[in-house]
Amino acid sequence: MRLRRAFLYAPADDLHKIEKACTLKADCICVDLEDAVSSLKKEEARLNAAHALGTFDFGKSERLVRINAPSTSFFMPDLRIVVDAIPDGIVIPKVEDAETLQYVDGFLEAFEGKKELPVGLIRLIAIIETASSFVNLKEICASTPRLSALVFGAEDLAVSLGARRSAAGQEVFYARSQLVLFAAAYGLDAIDLVCNNYRDAEVIRTEAAQGAQLGYCGKQVIHPNQIPIVQDAFSPTTEEMERARRIMEEYEQRMEDGKGALGMRGSLVDMPVYRQARQLLEKAQLIQSW
Ligand code: COA
Ligand code: MG
Repeated sequence: MRLRRAFLYAPADDLHKIEKACTLKADCICVDLEDAVSSLKKEEARLNAAHALGTFDFGKSERLVRINAPSTSFFMPDLRIVVDAIPDGIVIPKVEDAETLQYVDGFLEAFEGKKELPVGLIRLIAIIETASSFVNLKEICASTPRLSALVFGAEDLAVSLGARRSAAGQEVFYARSQLVLFAAAYGLDAIDLVCNNYRDAEVIRTEAAQGAQLGYCGKQVIHPNQIPIVQDAFSPTTEEMERARRIMEEYEQRMEDGKGALGMRGSLVDMPVYRQARQLLEKAQLIQSW
């Protein structure tokens, strides 16, 4: 289990932003060759990405790169160039079927074999963001053990559906829930939608809290302002940790006395509540050691 709370994009045509990203302590840095880069600058950006991934110090941040979509002519050249920098993971947008991931898996396996690297070293992360992606989600999730996370792309999904985006986001809520459910079923991390508003802290705080509530492990971010807010939202608070410790202590004590359930301050504590508390404290421990 690794932390993926703030998943920061840094446009590959802007070396200053990638350099800066390396100083921001985001859990993941995703150097972006796709939508942050104009089609006129794809080649220059590809070389920048390989250079940055190969030479910059990313600290503890996961070193990721988002290549262009499988349906574009940039996809294979991107893959061939960025793989040489041996990123921690390759993020593939607009994944619509299992075969695409299996093809990339085979490509990476051949590369790892040639370089005498452990097979599976380079992880895959799939962005789920079209109607077809959702229809084929089960097969996508089961496509390869190299797949490590699913990312929810709300803006492209809205295009695919012909939906109108709203602040409340009810037009993408079914898909947002579906993604986190499939990710959990297949042992994958789920990373929530981008909040395009990067000036209003309250807007991102509310949206990040919703994602954490649904079971997402983190959120895509596009601006330095959003990182601490998102990291906070996906980290247990001191009160939550204290409550979880109390629940664990009292429940374990009662179990020894042969009881399966107890009341604590007017609220039922039974096995699922105990397991939620344990899960929360495991996450807190991971954050402490990050
Ligand atoms: N990664 C790293 N650094 C970033 C950053 C990012 N995503 N976004 C902004 N910064 C830096 C700026 O370079 C600037 O640095 P400086 O003070 O050293 O000059 C500082 O943070 C403040 O930036 P600001 O002036 O507020 O924003 P901007 O006008 O430079 O950029 C955006 C605004 C939206 C263009 C920019 O945040 C961005 O490019 N985000 C990523 C977009 C993207 O990747 N989209 C595709 C994925 S959805
Ligand atoms: Mg997208």
